Amino acid sequence: MRVDVLTIFPEMFTGFLNTSIIKRAREQGHLTVNLVDIRDYARNKHRSVDDYPFGGGPGMVMQAEPIFLAVEALLPGAGAVRPPIILLSPQGEVFNQALASELARQERLILICGHYEGVDERVRQFLVNREVSIGDYVLTGGELPAMVIIDAVTRLLPGVLGDPAGATEDSFAMGLLEYPQYTRPRSFRGLEVPEVLLSGNHEQIRLWRRQQALERTWRRRPDLLAKLELSPEDRRLLVD
Ligand code: ADE
Repeated sequence: MRVDVLTIFPEMFTGFLNTSIIKRAREQGHLTVNLVDIRDYARNKHRSVDDYPFGGGPGMVMQAEPIFLAVEALLPGAGAVRPPIILLSPQGEVFNQALASELARQERLILICGHYEGVDERVRQFLVNREVSIGDYVLTGGELPAMVIIDAVTRLLPGVLGDPAGATEDSFAMGLLEYPQYTRPRSFRGLEVPEVLLSGNHEQIRLWRRQQALERTWRRRPDLLAKLELSPEDRRLLVD
């Protein structure tokens, strides 16, 4: 997958792109990230890309032109099929695992990181075809949200996680929270690992984990459980 990121702070991405799984995904050719500095498309010698809001009010607004020019430079030839062109803003649809899977099926994404008090509305109306928020809180800019989306999408790309079940069997993909995990030692400060996990009985372990995941979801995120179709086995595990 290729991701173009339009930002006024490309340096924010350096650590993220050069660490751990994202670094490896890039090295192995699963992911290409092209950072575009929006200031390169400013047509003034100060390279400014914001201005005062018409109608007055606090703060500055990102101008339409540099953002339009930056996207047009990436997509020469009008009328061609456009990839998702996503504006990151708190006003967008809220990002979740289902949207991550949908975006992971695309060959290319263009992410536009908003800033200041907002972005000229014409970007929203005539340039982007999607607007995404990573949650109901306000950040200083769209850079962290862009990294969140790249991270969640990259781990779903075929070949990125060593274990092919890694991404599909994780909690949100299954609609449940994760079951408890333990590693060595068996006893830590007198705290023991649940006996069933040491039993070697794979069916018992599967049932225990499923029950733990169901119970945890029931207690912490009943909203998630309500969306699930529970099997007869799940119903039994929940009442036990
Ligand atoms: N920009 C500022 N806050 C944001 C959020 N919560 N999601 C996406 N972009 C943002």
